[in-house]
Amino acid sequence: MKINDLFSVEKKVVLITGGSRGIGEMLASGFLANGAKVYISSRKSKDCDSTAKRLSEKYKNECISFPADISDLQGINKLFNKFAEENSSLDILINNAGAVWGEPFDSFSEDGWDKVMDLNVKSIFFMIQKFSSLLKKKASTENPARIINIGSIDGINTPYYENYSYSIAKSAVHKLTSVLAARLIKENIICNAIAPGPFPSKMLGSAVEHDYSVISKKNPSRRVGRPEDIAGLALFLSSKAGQYTVGETITCDGGLVASAGHDLTND
Ligand SMILES: NC(=O)c1ccc[n+]([C@@H]2O[C@H](COP(=O)([O-])OP(=O)(O)OC[C@H]3O[C@@H](n4cnc5c(N)ncnc54)[C@H](OP(=O)(O)O)[C@@H]3O)[C@@H](O)[C@H]2O)c1
Repeated sequence: MKINDLFSVEKKVVLITGGSRGIGEMLASGFLANGAKVYISSRKSKDCDSTAKRLSEKYKNECISFPADISDLQGINKLFNKFAEENSSLDILINNAGAVWGEPFDSFSEDGWDKVMDLNVKSIFFMIQKFSSLLKKKASTENPARIINIGSIDGINTPYYENYSYSIAKSAVHKLTSVLAARLIKENIICNAIAPGPFPSKMLGSAVEHDYSVISKKNPSRRVGRPEDIAGLALFLSSKAGQYTVGETITCDGGLVASAGHDLTND
């Protein structure tokens, strides 16, 4: 029951897609700070490599860069083959890489559907299908492997922005999580999702011109998310403490979903 045992991820092997920046980097930091070996992946090798180097130095722990475009099976296979060359098993897979597309309803394009559905939904299914062989390797009822899918509160609430394919894709991520959780728990793999609210990142920043003051004011907690908020929840889901939580989508949003419909402007 001691915290150090209950929440430990020490020596776990973790793979985080989209780990080169934003929420993926926050998650990588949380695992590295607590003794896990972390692999990060993203398309731009230069960025991925430099984040891995920076985080390795900061946390005095090994962060390894495996760049790949995982929006199709070819890229997923490339990432899998590279990972499997070095590792015969995987403890924790975090499907975090994602893309957003904003366009008005009348002109919303087919590309806006294909790009978002391919990366945010299809690739998560195939990442899990492919990596399940490695996740199964060391998994047992006493020590199950973990998958965490990063959804979004836009998949729960109706979003303010015109990002039709994104919110619908994120809703699909939450459904995919419970469907695959039911299948994979039989193999001692626990699958859950986190639905983040606003966290500073390139994705959110480009929607608000990197000025988070307005969305902070609109949030019941009066701020945007911090690395500790998202990393803390992921550590719980990855540790002994999270072993009986299966197939859930847990919000990490300062209370936005709980307060949907409340007017906070004069609070
Ligand atoms: N920030 C928020 O407020 C927020 C809220 C709710 C949910 N989320 C979700 O959280 C996740 C991370 O978002 P973020 O805000 O941190 O976004 P971000 O700053 O844009 O980071 C996205 C990451 O994914 C990588 N990526 C993009 N396309 C890829 C591809 N085809 N293959 C491999 N990697 C790819 C990016 O690197 P490259 O460009 O080099 O590939 C980057 O590392 C996403 O799933 C997003 O939907 C974010």
